[in-house]
Amino acid sequence: MFAYAAMTPSVEFVNGMSIPIIGLGTYDMTDDQSVMSRVLTDAIDVGYRHIDTAYIYQNEEIIGRSLTQMFANNTTKRKDLFITSKVWSTFHKRSAVVEALKLSLNNLGLDYLDLALIHWPIALKSGTGYLWPLDENNMTLDENISVVETWKGMEDAYRLGLAKSIGVSNFNSEQLSRVLKHSFIKPVVNQFETHPYLSQEKLVQFCHNNSIQVIAYCPIGKADKGLLNEPILTTIAAKNNKTVPQVMLRWLIQRDIIVIPKTSKRQRLMENINIFDFQLTDEEMTEIFKLNKNQRFINPTEAVNNREYPFHIPY
Ligand SMILES: NC(=O)c1ccc[n+]([C@@H]2O[C@H](COP(=O)([O-])OP(=O)(O)OC[C@H]3O[C@@H](n4cnc5c(N)ncnc54)[C@H](OP(=O)(O)O)[C@@H]3O)[C@@H](O)[C@H]2O)c1
Repeated sequence: MFAYAAMTPSVEFVNGMSIPIIGLGTYDMTDDQSVMSRVLTDAIDVGYRHIDTAYIYQNEEIIGRSLTQMFANNTTKRKDLFITSKVWSTFHKRSAVVEALKLSLNNLGLDYLDLALIHWPIALKSGTGYLWPLDENNMTLDENISVVETWKGMEDAYRLGLAKSIGVSNFNSEQLSRVLKHSFIKPVVNQFETHPYLSQEKLVQFCHNNSIQVIAYCPIGKADKGLLNEPILTTIAAKNNKTVPQVMLRWLIQRDIIVIPKTSKRQRLMENINIFDFQLTDEEMTEIFKLNKNQRFINPTEAVNNREYPFHIPY
């Protein structure tokens, strides 16, 4: 029980809340109730205290039912967990943000989130019956809403106590600057893709300079075969008696980045959290940076015409 819990450190947000450095990603984990209950039980058993979900993942309800069960049988307590969810792009009007977070809380069976994020800066047309509405050319049906308006909705949600902290995801530095300039409550987090093929040095630096913590999604590059077999990574892994995913996660946490790898296998849950007993040297860190080729695994190109599409500029 709790094999690694004592070794799992946290970092502080600018608002004083602390977030465990490693969390469990849950994208694509929609199988069924029993699978989710088993994964969450295993995750908590081996030391995870931080769970990352989103309205669009359509698994909030099964996560919520699993958690309710675990709270009831005292496997864990609400106050010991850090739970994140995200406002989907069809809820970007200021008034819709609170509605979106109330839906997520209801799905999850919770009174509050530890962290609520704007999932993407892009606003999509609401009321179409689709969460990813497309036109006849397969381009997104957009709404003309700026990130600043949506951020005001996040501030409303924070004041209502729906989330203990608020942040963003997939924002570039220009979008963050606009939000920082026009906000009363600053975003504490930007969650975005980073791994050895997409090092994101400038965006990480920008966030850290502005007291915004970075959460890495796809931290092991979706277990891409090329990445898993990169000679630099396999050599460093062998030298440290670790696996390539452990080296990738360690490289991120040594850059002061929080990681949320996804797996539904108990063995890999243990493998991915067992990264606090070794240290990469400066030379090894530099060698891994050299693998960068600005390669994204996640890029919603159907939204390139959206006024807030984030990847038109380098960072
Ligand atoms: N904010 C956003 O827009 C955004 C976008 C994408 C993702 N996310 C979040 O970030 C989380 C992580 O990203 P991700 O799930 O896309 O990618 P990821 O965590 O980099 O990779 C997940 C894949 O790697 C496999 N895997 C996990 N551990 C492994 C290990 N030790 N060895 C070999 N394979 C391993 C998993 O398979 P098995 O399950 O079979 O082990 C799964 O196929 C998501 O789950 C989600 O919570 C956020």
